[in-house]
Amino acid sequence: MAEQNKMEKIVSLCKRRGFIFPDSEIYGGLANAWDYGPYGAELKNNIKRRWWKKFVQDREDMVGLDAAIIMNPETWKASGHLSEFSDPLVECLKCKKRYRADELEAETCPACGGKLTNPKKFNLMFKTFIGPAEDSANVAYLRPETAQGIFVNFKNIMDTMRPKLPFGIGQIGKAFRNEITPGNFIFRTREFEQMEIEYFMAPPEKDKDWQAVFEDWREQMLDWMKKLGLDVKRNIHELEVSEKERAHYSKKTIDFEYEFPFGKEELYGLAYRTDYDLSQHAKFSGADLSYTAEDGKKIIPHVIEPSLGVERTVLAVLCESYGEENLTQPSPSQGEGKIETRVVMKFPFWLAPVKIAVFPLLKNKLALVKKAKAVFAKLKVDYACEFDDNGNIGKRYRRQDEIGTPFCVTIDFDSQELDDVTVRDRDSMKQVRVKIGELKEYFEKKFK
Ligand code: GAP
Repeated sequence: MAEQNKMEKIVSLCKRRGFIFPDSEIYGGLANAWDYGPYGAELKNNIKRRWWKKFVQDREDMVGLDAAIIMNPETWKASGHLSEFSDPLVECLKCKKRYRADELEAETCPACGGKLTNPKKFNLMFKTFIGPAEDSANVAYLRPETAQGIFVNFKNIMDTMRPKLPFGIGQIGKAFRNEITPGNFIFRTREFEQMEIEYFMAPPEKDKDWQAVFEDWREQMLDWMKKLGLDVKRNIHELEVSEKERAHYSKKTIDFEYEFPFGKEELYGLAYRTDYDLSQHAKFSGADLSYTAEDGKKIIPHVIEPSLGVERTVLAVLCESYGEENLTQPSPSQGEGKIETRVVMKFPFWLAPVKIAVFPLLKNKLALVKKAKAVFAKLKVDYACEFDDNGNIGKRYRRQDEIGTPFCVTIDFDSQELDDVTVRDRDSMKQVRVKIGELKEYFEKKFK
């Protein structure tokens, strides 16, 4: 499958099956903005829930936070975003197209060959006004990273939770960047979600002190990528970002790049932010953001920051899970003996938006429908389930394969007599008969 073709197929499947829609489509859409449909929302929520559990709830050294998107604008002076958070913008003098200078290989406009302006700094923060008066005194910004919500709450967390170093604060939330070149479906958008951790530690005496914490988080992130089902050996590459390319606050950054169909691009970042942010906020706000160590000494903690994008996670998972298989066995939906290509999303089970689909073999046989509804009602107490009686069984299987549902349960004529069902496995397509009374245990084993 050509990689460009693969991307088009994924975008089309996402629309067709209710994962991701173009934003405000009935008005012609909004370029590079996307809405998550029922299955996309489930997928996103599964990712966020698992991340929160793994990195916040399951750890004794972590707490969670949910800070506001619009913050006091002083935040962005202190953090350096007002002066530093910019990309170099060039404009074609002929066709007026705009580009990021650091992404251009040619010295002329790639679209028309026209001459380009000299690069100028374009700040990526979205501006807005607080209240009815649109004057400079009321300017505010939509946060370009969730991280700053954590730094400005450092004192609150210290005062209320009394954590001991090292400890971390995790947060999931929206961030906004007025990107010059958004694109590649949900890869680079102007509105996106981040899952970020600021992990605070005592000021390192030697480089190896922070390097050990950095290395531990590097491994934690790799472990997370494996849990997502990503082929880490083949598809993840680590890139140490050069000093010139690093964000203004970072002393070391690793980008975890993923082999997307459109090329190798950043999936996540891991940075050593030193004490830059807490020191800056202490200076600009006048607040005491120090930590009192065991020996009574006041110190400003240093920070390691694993930063993960939710949408890039969704995209990597979609790319990794997408598969096409030529079926050689007779297919009920195509007729005996015909060869059919099956599209299947092989999500790890925990990620699948629907875990079990329940079908009555025929929709007009009331007894089958009644029994299927009873099985559905039981299963949906524990699993995200879907009831489907549309079209023939073959079509229902194809639909669930494209949604990535691990199991389909069918109630057929034999079920009436034997009080059992067929369970069809997404990956092997094998079917087994299971007694209705044993279904709970059967799925407990499958989903454990
Ligand atoms: N607090 C650090 C920070 O924001 P970043 O590398 O600029 O670092 C972190 O962003 C992560 O956020 C990226 O690795 C990516 O997953 C996600 N991200 C950044 N910009 C994005 C965009 N325009 N669209 C979608 N995701 C984005």
